[in-house]
Amino acid sequence: MQKPKLQVALDTSTMCEAFRVLGNGLDETVDIVECGTMLLLHEGLHALDYLRSIYPDKLLVADFKCVAPHFGSRIIEHNPDFLTVLSVAEPHVQEAIAKEAVEHGQCVQVELYGEYTLDDVKRWQGYGIEHIIYNRPRIRKGPWGDEEATDIKKLSSLGMYVTATGGMSCENLQALKGLPVYAVICGRSVLKAASPAAEAIRIKQRISELWD
Ligand code: 5RP
Repeated sequence: MQKPKLQVALDTSTMCEAFRVLGNGLDETVDIVECGTMLLLHEGLHALDYLRSIYPDKLLVADFKCVAPHFGSRIIEHNPDFLTVLSVAEPHVQEAIAKEAVEHGQCVQVELYGEYTLDDVKRWQGYGIEHIIYNRPRIRKGPWGDEEATDIKKLSSLGMYVTATGGMSCENLQALKGLPVYAVICGRSVLKAASPAAEAIRIKQRISELWD
């Protein structure tokens, strides 16, 4: 089984802070760079341009959690590999953004927020969407466990690539051991580490151990 990629969520409010996090080799360690929602809000879409021009070959996610078609259109102009659309956005929004993304060689990732059904997943697939971000419901407390594993397996068995997020860290990766996970998103656990670069290396090593 393919081991999960490591995605760092740049949930910073300035580009300077984002570059500080990416420094000391973190950019080479991570597989996917996420331009976080707050970074996009604070710095605007040119944050994507900076990241794309510095990392032309790195997978780049624009995490704007789109809920309107024209949000998607503006983001697509800035050439990310992936852009996020919320699961609770209206179906016509999801369909329109997914189609426009594909025309530009990009992919929509549906980020799960609140309730969803397996019929929703099939509907997203009908729009050509293959990626889901499993954002652990905030009402679930404590460490990741069987409930999350069951959800991820179900989504994967439907043929979706599943990315896991929500408080992920080196310490709780164990809960995902061996699961079919496309990527693990780490935000705070990397950003707040004394050395984000060293923490990213530690997480990658742990992923290798758990999916060996
Ligand atoms: C939430 C997000 C976060 O960027 C992502 O989930 C990272 O979170 P954490 O800091 O818990 O690792 O987009 O919607």
